[in-house]
Amino acid sequence: MMTLNLFEDTAQCQARQEQLSPGAFVLRGFAVPDETAIFAALGPILSAAPLRHLVTPGGFRMSVAMTNCGSYGWVADRTGYRYDAIDPKSGKLWPSMPDVFLKLAQDAAATAGFEDFKPNACLVNRYDPGTRLSLHQDKNERGFSAPIVSVSLGIPAVFLWGALRREDKPVRVQLMHGDVMVWGGPSRLHYHGVLPLKEGHHPLTGTHRINLTFRKAV
Ligand code: SIN
Ligand code: FE2
Repeated sequence: MMTLNLFEDTAQCQARQEQLSPGAFVLRGFAVPDETAIFAALGPILSAAPLRHLVTPGGFRMSVAMTNCGSYGWVADRTGYRYDAIDPKSGKLWPSMPDVFLKLAQDAAATAGFEDFKPNACLVNRYDPGTRLSLHQDKNERGFSAPIVSVSLGIPAVFLWGALRREDKPVRVQLMHGDVMVWGGPSRLHYHGVLPLKEGHHPLTGTHRINLTFRKAV
């Protein structure tokens, strides 16, 4: 009886992992068990380093509001995109990465086959309805051997999963609260983006979607 249950659990677990391309996985609901701890840890981060709309080197105000925690934060300004240990808004270090964030990112990476993931940057993205993120590659990191771990919270979004060339038609992936995407290895530099967010409501985020993206920046 015990053995049968274990098999059922394993089957259920595997059914909730979808492979999008070699090295790219959606782990359905992976972050749900940590949701309370995640939001408890997020509050002080947003107080110390408030969400803000960055301006791209081309002079466009990004519609996604962003901040960071960890040793490095991703920033954009008129001079370019980069990782910086200092929050340009406060002149101080970014808030440290909470243990619950680090463990979640490491567990998700390991579940997708990437052992020993050591993220030192966590980008916090807040999407309002209508907000989108155009197709891009994550390539401001110093190396590409570590995967990207991306946690979706709050109202659902349609994620675009492309390939190595911008022209390759992306597939659409519905990302729900608690879903975690991991991409690395041959998928590490795949194009990706987010379609304009539909209106919605989630008890933990209200009318927003929050995304946490974990990276080894340097
Ligand atoms: C990103 O690509 O930086 C964020 C993706 C997402 O919000 O799901
Ligand atoms: Fe990205």
